[in-house]
Amino acid sequence: MTVYRPGEDTYLLASVIEHKDLKDLDCLEIGTGSGFIAEKMLENGAQKVTAVDINPEAVEKASERLSGHESAEVFRSDMFQNVEEKYDIIVFNPPYLPSEASRIGDEEIWAGGEKGVEASEKFVEEAEDYLKEGGEAFFVASSLSELEVFDDLEVVDSRKLWFEELFVFKFK
Ligand SMILES: C[S@@+](CC[C@H](N)C(=O)[O-])C[C@H]1O[C@@H](n2cnc3c(N)ncnc32)[C@H](O)[C@@H]1O
Repeated sequence: MTVYRPGEDTYLLASVIEHKDLKDLDCLEIGTGSGFIAEKMLENGAQKVTAVDINPEAVEKASERLSGHESAEVFRSDMFQNVEEKYDIIVFNPPYLPSEASRIGDEEIWAGGEKGVEASEKFVEEAEDYLKEGGEAFFVASSLSELEVFDDLEVVDSRKLWFEELFVFKFK
């Protein structure tokens, strides 16, 4: 399986993280890929960062990237399946494109379900159980997917690209 290389969506979510004071906070990244965002969380003062991915090759890559950081742990997990603790901040740059797109291969990177939002909806549903009191969760979504389902969530940042607009939604 290919490991996702940081792109515009990665940088958008990373910039939200960079503007937050993470000092003394425990942070979790679902779908860490190369570990780029997890590393930003550490650089931004997080007390602890847990980074998980469904793709074992991403786990390997992110482990390499975060190996110098004692307060980081990386392991394989399908969403929250192997996550046992609660966190102050949880982030996910999910697969967010509608699956009928005429691409095949590496679906775990881009295919967010038929409407493009299914992986994110699952994240929103499950994250609640892994957030500490007062915790916050953030995820990326694209204008190419059926975003109406997130109408009641706050958009904290966005970026227009030539073919789509990316949003970072926050909840809790
Ligand atoms: C768009 S990439 C983002 C990677 C990285 N966070 C970044 O922003 O550059 C989506 C990542 O989510 C992972 N992923 C997809 N479904 C997942 C699931 N159910 N549980 C955990 N990780 C998942 C993929 O393997 C991939 O690494």
